Amino acid sequence: MKRSEINALIEDAKELLHKHYMKLPPFAYWSPEDWKQKGSECDEIRECGLGWDITDFGAGDFDRTGLVVFTVRNGHRTLEPYTDKTYCEKILIVRKDQHTPMHYHVFKQEDIICRCGGNLVCEVYNRTPDDQLAGTEVEVSLDGVRHRVPAGTQLVLTPGESITLTPYLWHEFWAEKGTGTSIVGEVSKVNDDATDNVFLKALGRFPDIEEDAPPMHLLCTEYEAPGA
Ligand SMILES: [Fe+2]
Repeated sequence: MKRSEINALIEDAKELLHKHYMKLPPFAYWSPEDWKQKGSECDEIRECGLGWDITDFGAGDFDRTGLVVFTVRNGHRTLEPYTDKTYCEKILIVRKDQHTPMHYHVFKQEDIICRCGGNLVCEVYNRTPDDQLAGTEVEVSLDGVRHRVPAGTQLVLTPGESITLTPYLWHEFWAEKGTGTSIVGEVSKVNDDATDNVFLKALGRFPDIEEDAPPMHLLCTEYEAPGA
């Protein structure tokens, strides 16, 4: 992805969230220059991967396969002193027909919540022992109500509705055409993008970036240690 595109996507995300009266924590607005002044008091942001996370999953077609994420809070599974924070919260901006490709998590259980804007479609499958999509009925909880649905069902979440995605449950989501960009919440166990995501098709979790403009904000993978 081009840096200029990432800058524009972050600006769009801030504008959209503010339009819906959702403000972000202070570090969402810090520039790379601001970060140069930040010391070890900000280690939690760096070490737990908080902040902006814009990705095309390495597919090079952001409009069809991509996601804008802001990680509001996260702990760490092994690094002290963050292991007591066992939870994570993200905001996801999902455009119409823009897919987060089929994947599951080994450790993380997550609730995906359609907060406002467009409807979110979530397609679910069980996993076969050889890591493929199973044809078996899926048991899934939607806002505390247990459902049994055929393999590959596309569940439509309207604003206010959520789905609980358990470990090893394959899922892919996108915003429903004709309903607008969906503002989505994710409340989960600790997030670890380095080890916990299994994609059905080999994809990268983070984009390659072409530096055609200076960054307006650092991504969560771009923080440097204080004094570096
Ligand atoms: Fe997921």
